[in-house]
Amino acid sequence: DGECLEDLVKPGDGLVSRRIFTDAEIYELEQKRIFAKGWFFVGHESEVPEPGDVLTRMVGTDPALFVRDDDGVIRVFLNSCRHRGMRVCRTDRANTSFLRCPYHGWAYKNTGELVSVQAEDFYGPDELRKADFGLIPVARLGIHHGLVFATWDEQAPSLDEYLGDMKYYLDIIMNRTGGMRVVGTPQVWEAETGWKFATDNFTDNFHVYFAHHSLVELGMLPNDPDFAGHGTLVVAEEGHILHLTAGAPTHAFESLGLPDELRAKFPEFLDADQVEMAKNTAYSAGTVWPNFHWLQLMSSGTLGQPDVPFLNLRLEVPVSPTRTRMWSWLLIDEAADAEFTKASYETYVRTFGPAGIYDQDDMENWEDCTRTSLGPAARRHTLHHRMGLGTPVDETWPGPGKAYRGSYGEHTQRSWYAAWLRFMTEGRAGRKSQEDGR
Ligand code: FES
Ligand code: FE
Repeated sequence: DGECLEDLVKPGDGLVSRRIFTDAEIYELEQKRIFAKGWFFVGHESEVPEPGDVLTRMVGTDPALFVRDDDGVIRVFLNSCRHRGMRVCRTDRANTSFLRCPYHGWAYKNTGELVSVQAEDFYGPDELRKADFGLIPVARLGIHHGLVFATWDEQAPSLDEYLGDMKYYLDIIMNRTGGMRVVGTPQVWEAETGWKFATDNFTDNFHVYFAHHSLVELGMLPNDPDFAGHGTLVVAEEGHILHLTAGAPTHAFESLGLPDELRAKFPEFLDADQVEMAKNTAYSAGTVWPNFHWLQLMSSGTLGQPDVPFLNLRLEVPVSPTRTRMWSWLLIDEAADAEFTKASYETYVRTFGPAGIYDQDDMENWEDCTRTSLGPAARRHTLHHRMGLGTPVDETWPGPGKAYRGSYGEHTQRSWYAAWLRFMTEGRAGRKSQEDGR
């Protein structure tokens, strides 16, 4: 309609057009500018412990294989046969040295190499050079504290550079006791929502008292609208954002809610400022741009039960402009004992994931926001992300990035939309550009 992206998204003013959440043309452009360019979470190393382990995953919006080959090397490929494109692995998980395509039977080794072709004699001398038709590997693969990320873009910065100052905070979440492992298998489900409504929600503390009020009524959350408002919002890098309850004087919990034997390990793996931050934190949420999140939470899971912490990793994979596939993992400290592991697992499944009390509330909101953005009248209007535009940066914050006191503020979302605009117009985010819309 003659509108350019800068007219639709104005992070500096905290105004975002509803069009970007459902428009098919914008969705198409996101495929080229975001999903072909960014770094995407694939899975955790602990999910492929044995040589030959194969998991079917996504890299951006492309189907992928997450593999530990027979020599123990982690590899990620497009899950698509080089002949006609059939998926070479159609199960969630397998352990195998070879993957045989179910269509015409081309077979690949778990290193990606095309090793055998049915009726190969029928190909003339130069018709099929097998060495040129192995599975397509991702352009770059990176691992940080066991988190495996990949990108389809040869020109992408290294993962290290991409994560930048976010690594400081990922240390606290992923390495506080020397390493985490995935427990169980991830839960995967789909919802009728534009993917950005979900990503927008992960550092949103503003909705907790209201959207999850049934938990307040059940006595599973404090009856105080301010209870989620005492933390700090941090823009680590443009688009890489988080919330910590560090610095909250009134919180009943500390040290991420972990038992004494686990919190005693912090000084072994974190520096003094990080230990202090972890000690002062009851819960935390963060987003590695664009669609990967953590939630480190305390909950009772059931009325009357003691509060137990868990670490939930999340990913939203768009399926269409108005449909999104959600992935949800539970991680527990490798050093945790069996009793804590069980309590943490039970609390997680009752609160998050498709059957979780919190997720059901959230999904209802994301789906409704999507439906109301489809009509021609709604699409002419913006959504409001202006909370805290005038809040000064907290210069006393000991960690990297820009920090803002108080958990109620939309600084982090504005930074996410600034990164969205940069990718959509320039093809990538600037390593050191930390304008969170100011
Ligand atoms: Fe895989 Fe033909 S599509 S062998
Ligand atoms: Fe929520």
